[in-house]
Amino acid sequence: MRRLFTYLTTIFIALIMIAGCQQADNTSETNETATLSKLQVDQTKPYIGFAMDTLQDERWYRDKDYFETALHDLGANVKTLAANGVQEVQNQQVKLMIEEGIDVLVIIPADAEGAKEAVALAEAADIPVISYDKMVMNAAIDYYISFDNIKVGELQATAILNEVPEGDIAYVGGAPSDNNAHLFREGAMNVLQPKIDDGSINLVYDNFTEGWSPEVARDNFQSFLNDATVDAVIAANDGTAGGVIEALGDRRVPISGQDAELAAIQRIIDGTQTMTVYKSLENIANTAATSAYELAIGNTIETNQTVNNNLTDVPSILLDPVSVDVSNIDETVIQEGHIDPSDLTN
Ligand code: BGC
Repeated sequence: MRRLFTYLTTIFIALIMIAGCQQADNTSETNETATLSKLQVDQTKPYIGFAMDTLQDERWYRDKDYFETALHDLGANVKTLAANGVQEVQNQQVKLMIEEGIDVLVIIPADAEGAKEAVALAEAADIPVISYDKMVMNAAIDYYISFDNIKVGELQATAILNEVPEGDIAYVGGAPSDNNAHLFREGAMNVLQPKIDDGSINLVYDNFTEGWSPEVARDNFQSFLNDATVDAVIAANDGTAGGVIEALGDRRVPISGQDAELAAIQRIIDGTQTMTVYKSLENIANTAATSAYELAIGNTIETNQTVNNNLTDVPSILLDPVSVDVSNIDETVIQEGHIDPSDLTN
């Protein structure tokens, strides 16, 4: 019910935005100055559109802040719109930004496949597209800037196998509509499969989690626990890990995560979560902002690899993820300023 309400509210907001945009369009031919002030865009500066999937997990606010700050520092304008996980809304938001005259589109797809419509709109308007963190599949994007997401899954499974080299393991994946969720699982399976083949590990649970929702992860896992036991859990991110830990109640088993959220670092200190994966949000946001700026002023971006998105080999920059457990919190997330130690209790 709450999801339906959120969905309807999001559609309603998008419709209001589109109506506002159309209104601005109607006046554009008659009064250029009025149009400029309505669109609130200084056309003399590069203008970047940032189409975000969601602000649901803690990380995305930080991505947004770093990205916008970097572009402002470079002297560019930026508009960020988040789609609340609804692809139709994101497509409309991209349409709006194109009408406003963006020079470059940076997109975190709400749905890996569905976002190709938004990319097609940008392509038709000759606007370069950067896929940020999550790949838009089957679409003619120009660049992909993310992390080595297969390695994320490998780090998670390696840390969990260090704790539980034999036994019953559960895999709690991310949203099936997010290409990253498949890459994280692929990485985890690279490490698990040989142990499954030699019989030392039983994969007793293996499910994706709609919308990366912690509540969905909790409820799914609760149903599973009604008639099964488990020795360890590979959860694809800190949000889903939080849901599973709630479902486990007083039971403690090794469990992974990802994102180095404050709550997860606290759980690692408290002993309810084994590890997380730290990905420097400052690094990805600054890299994407600088790249978008360069494209906007007519330059190209240097990349050193390509990643296939089922349509084309996309020139890519993949940053390195870092495994964090209780032994290296200080020299990773604290030293890098990702976590403020005064926010933690011992
Ligand atoms: C991101 C993760 C994030 C998840 C849910 C993934 O695509 O790479 O960092 O936890 O989406 O938002």
